[in-house]
Amino acid sequence: MEIYDKRAAEFLERAYGTPEIVNQRLRTLAALGLVAGEAVLDAGCGTGLLLELEAAAVGTNGRADGVDLSDDMLATARERCAGLSQVDLRQGSVEALPFADASFDAASCTQTLLYVDDLAAALAELQRVLRPRGRLAVVETDWTGTIVSSHDQALTRRIFDAWGGGVANPNLPRRLKALLEGAGFGAVRAEAVPILNIGGKVGGFSAGMLKNFADAAKRCGAIDEAEAAAWLDGIEVLSARGEYFFSVNRFLFSAIS
Ligand SMILES: C[S@@+](CC[C@H](N)C(=O)[O-])C[C@H]1O[C@@H](n2cnc3c(N)ncnc32)[C@H](O)[C@@H]1O
Repeated sequence: MEIYDKRAAEFLERAYGTPEIVNQRLRTLAALGLVAGEAVLDAGCGTGLLLELEAAAVGTNGRADGVDLSDDMLATARERCAGLSQVDLRQGSVEALPFADASFDAASCTQTLLYVDDLAAALAELQRVLRPRGRLAVVETDWTGTIVSSHDQALTRRIFDAWGGGVANPNLPRRLKALLEGAGFGAVRAEAVPILNIGGKVGGFSAGMLKNFADAAKRCGAIDEAEAAAWLDGIEVLSARGEYFFSVNRFLFSAIS
């Protein structure tokens, strides 16, 4: 069970402020093709990083609504978007969106569907609140495709398999096209958005994530304390030799309602 508290909001701010996730946001924004005056929804808006960009794109004659389950995430989003009159933030679930039918020209949902218990309900809700021919952009990750420089690749695989086990819908990209079409979306397209950190120092998006991956694998019993420490220490050693390498693909799906 994921916890979306104040600590998680602070962690997300750090991890999602890195250049590779900035790139992901800009590509998501481009996929939505927003124009001034439109209404856009960010479902699972977190700390409002994408919503702020969407608000700028639709301008003060438009509307940019954010919904998130977590009050702590929303508190940061409220601070971020305080000066933007076109932004409205509400607590709620993507499984039961607090909006009338056909309220939006476009909607985004990034790194959120993996946590949602009723995926079919969430996709039906996104379809319902979009106007006919509304644009949808979804970003999800397939963690089984992660590559990490490590002395023990079998241990690395166990850690990433365990990471997927901790969420409701792990590795969604493989199923997402069929799920979107099943929910009535058309013109489904997908593109890979790479996260790549290389060089002599553990850095970028993955720097803050490695311990999280090891801790999650420990919590579900996939590895023990000693294995977690050995994995992290081994990565540090390779990193000191200039051999740090981390890569995973995120996948940006776009579709029409
Ligand atoms: C990894 S964060 C991503 C935040 C944001 N979309 C981004 O990409 O910066 C996942 C977010 O999903 C939210 N969340 C989880 N389940 C949700 C649900 N059923 N409905 C709405 N938000 C949800 C969490 O509170 C958290 O803010």
